[in-house]
Amino acid sequence: MRRLSLIGFVAALIVTTASAADWAPPSADKLPGDAWGELVRFGQHLTNQTYAIIGPEVADAEKRYAGNNLSCQNCHLDGGAKEFGLPFVGVFGDFPQYRAREGEVGTIEDRVNGCMTRSMNGRVLPLDSREMKAFVAYIKFLSTGRPVGAATPGRGAGSMPELTRAADPRAGAAAYAENCAVCHGEDGHGKRRGAKGDAAGYAFPPLWGPDSFNNGAGMNRLIAAANFIHANMPFGVSLDHPQLTTDQAWDIGAFIVSRDRPQKAGLDGDFPVRSEKPVDAGYGPYLDKAPPEQHKFGPFTPIRDALKAAK
Ligand code: HEC
Ligand code: HEC
Repeated sequence: MRRLSLIGFVAALIVTTASAADWAPPSADKLPGDAWGELVRFGQHLTNQTYAIIGPEVADAEKRYAGNNLSCQNCHLDGGAKEFGLPFVGVFGDFPQYRAREGEVGTIEDRVNGCMTRSMNGRVLPLDSREMKAFVAYIKFLSTGRPVGAATPGRGAGSMPELTRAADPRAGAAAYAENCAVCHGEDGHGKRRGAKGDAAGYAFPPLWGPDSFNNGAGMNRLIAAANFIHANMPFGVSLDHPQLTTDQAWDIGAFIVSRDRPQKAGLDGDFPVRSEKPVDAGYGPYLDKAPPEQHKFGPFTPIRDALKAAK
């Protein structure tokens, strides 16, 4: 008996260690200087310093694909390698996939261009461009060892319990001033690394305003924003060691999605199958009769229940 429990204890220890060690995405530094290694490293560089290569202030006007001075890394933290920081790890094998937003099966290139036109408020990268190939190569590299069809724990940004009340942007404004403004600014416009026009990006990226993601971006939906904030902000925290309470994260998320940002044309064409539209999409048309405010701030369970009942 004693022996069995000792084995159980050792097994549990191995399992715990393995799951922690499981994350450790590969490092592009270790790749050789051949065509593949160079492309993967260019993808990493593009992810980390997007503004300097395809941003709106780069010297070559043809290369100005992004419409704002963010980097992919501003949201896909640690160059897409952070657990619960919207990582690219395990993403490659998940595409092609059915995309409710487009109502059709999309490729990994389509997904990159989804963030190009929404999170980056820009235009699509051509499929045969070196930049697009580099993003895909880098995402594939970070997904090394992650089998097609297997879920990757640590992807996304977690999923907190939802509130039974509406999230409160006014309470969020106060919590923002206390926890976020020191870096992102009272006005939410962030702090540039250099001067306007020098394509050097931000030390602290904007959360709203003219140089931020547009209203069609995933980060402009409360559930995505609140979970990202809870698991990753203030900068340096993790889902295991958050600093904000879940209520604070929901309220701050509500404050951020209530602010002004660039508007994307044609959003009523999103989610052509209306029953597949996420409850927290910040723009109509909606299938249900819940007011637009409730789609922005919740509570979402009554909307889900009404949609179920209508089926
Ligand atoms: C303002 C924040 C933001 C920026 C900047 C951003 N993204 Fe995203 N991205 C998101 C969000 C939010 C999602 C949705 C994550 C989810 O579905 O869990 C996402 C999803 C993705 C996915 C799919 C991930 C998955 O788990 O299925 C890819 C690939 C991606 N982005 C690539 C990029 C690239 C490449 C760039 C830079 C050109 C970029 N993103 C810039 C916020 C951002
Ligand atoms: C110590 C400075 C600091 C504090 C405090 C901080 N952030 Fe951030 N935040 C950052 C940095 C730096 C990034 C970009 C990360 C990168 O590029 O590696 C970021 C990125 C973000 C992003 C995604 C990028 C974008 O432009 O939308 C959001 C959303 C965000 N922070 C929200 C918040 C919120 C909400 C708070 C308060 C709870 C907060 N942050 C507190 C430094 C900070």
